[in-house]
Amino acid sequence: MKDKIFKYINQEKQRQTEMIGLIPSENHISPEVSKVLSSVLNSKYSEGYSGRRYYEGNQFIDKIENEARDRIKKLFGVPYVNVQPHSGSPANSAIYFALLEPGDTLMGLTLAGGGHLTHGHPKVTFSGKFFNSVQYGLNQDARINFVQMRKLAKKHKPKIIIASTTAYPFILEFDKFREIADEVGAWLMADISHITGLVIAGEHPSPVPYADVIMSTTHKTFRGPRGAMIMVTERGLKRDPYLGSKIDAAIIPGLQGGPHNATTAGIAIAAAEAMRPEFKTYAHRIIQNAKALAKALKDEGLKLVGDGTDNHLILVDLTPQGFGLGTQVAFAMDVAGMYANRNSIPHEPCSPFYPSGVRLGTPLVTTRGMKEAQMKQIAKWIAQVVEYVKKYELPQDKKNRGVFIKNFRVKMKDDKKLLAIRQEVVAVAKQFPLFQW
Ligand SMILES: Cc1ncc(COP(=O)(O)O)c(C=O)c1O
Repeated sequence: MKDKIFKYINQEKQRQTEMIGLIPSENHISPEVSKVLSSVLNSKYSEGYSGRRYYEGNQFIDKIENEARDRIKKLFGVPYVNVQPHSGSPANSAIYFALLEPGDTLMGLTLAGGGHLTHGHPKVTFSGKFFNSVQYGLNQDARINFVQMRKLAKKHKPKIIIASTTAYPFILEFDKFREIADEVGAWLMADISHITGLVIAGEHPSPVPYADVIMSTTHKTFRGPRGAMIMVTERGLKRDPYLGSKIDAAIIPGLQGGPHNATTAGIAIAAAEAMRPEFKTYAHRIIQNAKALAKALKDEGLKLVGDGTDNHLILVDLTPQGFGLGTQVAFAMDVAGMYANRNSIPHEPCSPFYPSGVRLGTPLVTTRGMKEAQMKQIAKWIAQVVEYVKKYELPQDKKNRGVFIKNFRVKMKDDKKLLAIRQEVVAVAKQFPLFQW
């Protein structure tokens, strides 16, 4: 009898095919990347680095890993790369492990401002518990507050300043981060997980001339397997010629055991794909689509954080429609065939658990070949959903919120109006294969 896991995989494939994915940190991988992920490479242990492994039988793995590193070096113009981090969070931890002592000060963007948990979010994360985390925020116009950052940096003298976002629709001005890092003698780390593909294609300024060390996940706009890479720039090596070996040692033996070799091969394949001219066009279209979606959402009367987007990502601010609506809208969108995630908005008036926004992105739909016409249509569907559920505002009394959301989900999961929208969504989605180009 066939294992039911295969049935679930088929169901997930059907879900992805029939629905429209709007999560900015996801992407559909190419058939070639998919192929190497299920190859024999998965069966090999390779602790260590090329030419110095703790296990025998790694002559071909060495070639694959060298090739992956060389391709990334070429794509970004950096002298050092490590492709072994299992994912973005361990990769960020490895950078801290290499450059900081426990209790040292690091500085990143607040979660509410669009930073990631690993950028020093206090109390509950490794980065916030084991280090002294100081966080900068946003201005009223939802842009990074460099005045505040400079003040905080001068006061707290962080050893690392992190230039990175996970929910920020604007360009990251790496030159401004560098200025402040230089003023206080800090390392500048750029975590470009979200925007790697845009950087490679020249659609977003590169951090390479400014940062000392760069981290990126490989599964977002880069369109590779789930993994991560760490790069050290010429500038970083100039400051510390051992920075590369410190990163290597932080990965193994510091934090990990063996690398995921199938992932390494997938990174090499994705890097080759990113070198093709089509990838440049793809990255450009991601932004064109995001701008088209942003405009269409505004035309439908929705408010966007910062009034638009310069990258692949849009944050819808639902406060004009009601209190604490992010969870309800994201759930109703899912019932209606479009998956996204609820998200805090800058200066969040409700709570991080029941935030007031929804985060949208265009990498997935662009990989499927959708263009401006579909963005307009998607905006219409989203506006219909928002209009329909806006009366379900979150209770002001915190203790009633859990039950309220539970009941909302029960009521909405078979809702006729939402399922009617879903039918329209499915009809359009099915015209676009998961990986078009
Ligand atoms: C900017 C940034 N850094 C790090 C991560 C963590 O990556 P992972 O989920 O692979 O651990 C993410 C994931 O969303 C991210 O957006």
